[in-house]
Amino acid sequence: TSNQMWGGRFAAGPDAIMEAINASIGFDKRLAAQDIAGSRAHAAMLAATGIVDSNDVEAIREGLLTVLSEIDEGRFVFSTALEDIHMNVEARLKDLIGAPAGRLHTARSRNDQVATDFRLWVRDQCDAAEEGLLALMRALVTQAEAGADWVMPGFTHLQTAQPVTWGHHMLAYVEMFARDLSRIRDARARMNESPLGAAALAGTGFPIDRHMTADALGFDRPMANSLDAVSDRDFALEFLSCASICAMHLSRFAEELVIWSSAQFRFVTLSDRFSTGSSIMPQKKNPDAAELIRAKVGRIFGANVALMMVMKGLPLAYSKDMQEDKEQVFDAADNLMLALAAMEGMVRDMAANVPSLERAAASGFSTATDLADWLVRDTGLPFRDAHHVTGALVALAEKKGCDLPDLTLDEMKSVHEPITEAVFGVLGVHNSVASRTSFGGTAPARVREQVARWKDTLG
Ligand code: ARG
Repeated sequence: TSNQMWGGRFAAGPDAIMEAINASIGFDKRLAAQDIAGSRAHAAMLAATGIVDSNDVEAIREGLLTVLSEIDEGRFVFSTALEDIHMNVEARLKDLIGAPAGRLHTARSRNDQVATDFRLWVRDQCDAAEEGLLALMRALVTQAEAGADWVMPGFTHLQTAQPVTWGHHMLAYVEMFARDLSRIRDARARMNESPLGAAALAGTGFPIDRHMTADALGFDRPMANSLDAVSDRDFALEFLSCASICAMHLSRFAEELVIWSSAQFRFVTLSDRFSTGSSIMPQKKNPDAAELIRAKVGRIFGANVALMMVMKGLPLAYSKDMQEDKEQVFDAADNLMLALAAMEGMVRDMAANVPSLERAAASGFSTATDLADWLVRDTGLPFRDAHHVTGALVALAEKKGCDLPDLTLDEMKSVHEPITEAVFGVLGVHNSVASRTSFGGTAPARVREQVARWKDTLG
């Protein structure tokens, strides 16, 4: 038998393979709540404008609530023959209320319907991402406050560079996640326009009120062009782009946690709650959550590229290719929220190993720049020459197998006569970080200012 929704011109129903490739109900059932909210808003508008009798609309709106509770309670039987969530809901509405159900689709198409549902869904995910990011930022600020003056090595090329503070390192990620948050908010604001009422592609001759449905669904305004409304998915792509950048930040931090929790580094101890053991090696405690965050990022990037590829060749307006937009976004959103929550949990629970951070901070000639800066300030040497002298001192220490502060004054003088006892005052890691008071620098005093600012912002 042909499809009850569009089968008028068909003598035969679809082949089983056609049904399988065509149906989206397996995944777009996740749009049920949005679909029903959209339909209820559309129906209310049809009554308000006199397009459909208000008794029929009353029955439609009530019936839709019944359908929603059936879905919520897991009592709804989804049908592949009915293709997608839109037709599944409408068919069930017809079972429940009979003939008036057939009036719901007046002045509407599945094209504006799905565009509306999907925008509502992605908009909710923006809100969820915002929550997840804020929670993670708070956890990082708590770590930063606790460790505003714990010293650790700062790296470039993963080689010891200069000492930094733990708090400064934590706040670096707060800045990144704050930009992710701001990007998500921008994307949300841009996507918050209603496609509903664009109908199939050209608008409709019925005297609909698109402002009314836009308002009812919390959109700022109706989209201005019906062709654009049904055929673009840039809102989903923006979400995926924001998600990708955020995931990239999560992945870099995850990579650091994997390194930091290794026996060779021992910078942090991750909590048992976010680690796993090995089935053969009894001593193992693995940073699986961090590793999985690092891996999930690949899926999110993949979703972004996949949807770009789906969209790039489509002439206006709707093409069925666009049904392939949803799974990518569902998967990316699920994994982003999970990654944010797992990262927040790890950060909240992780314990910095302060003595080991300090030991590492002092190794690798990390205060060589401080020495060079001292030569500039106290002996008037040009920085380039000071750099050269310090390099020679590092070479000497390396030859002796000791650190810079272990060289004697005589040994220092053998490299550069004007050096005095005072040089030993700048070779310690605490002096080093305390001296870096430039705006945005790692000095504990600066970090505490930034912690205060973030606590203020994050409440
Ligand atoms: N299931 C479809 C989708 O997700 C709904 C829109 C169908 N529109 C159409 N003209 N066939 O894109």
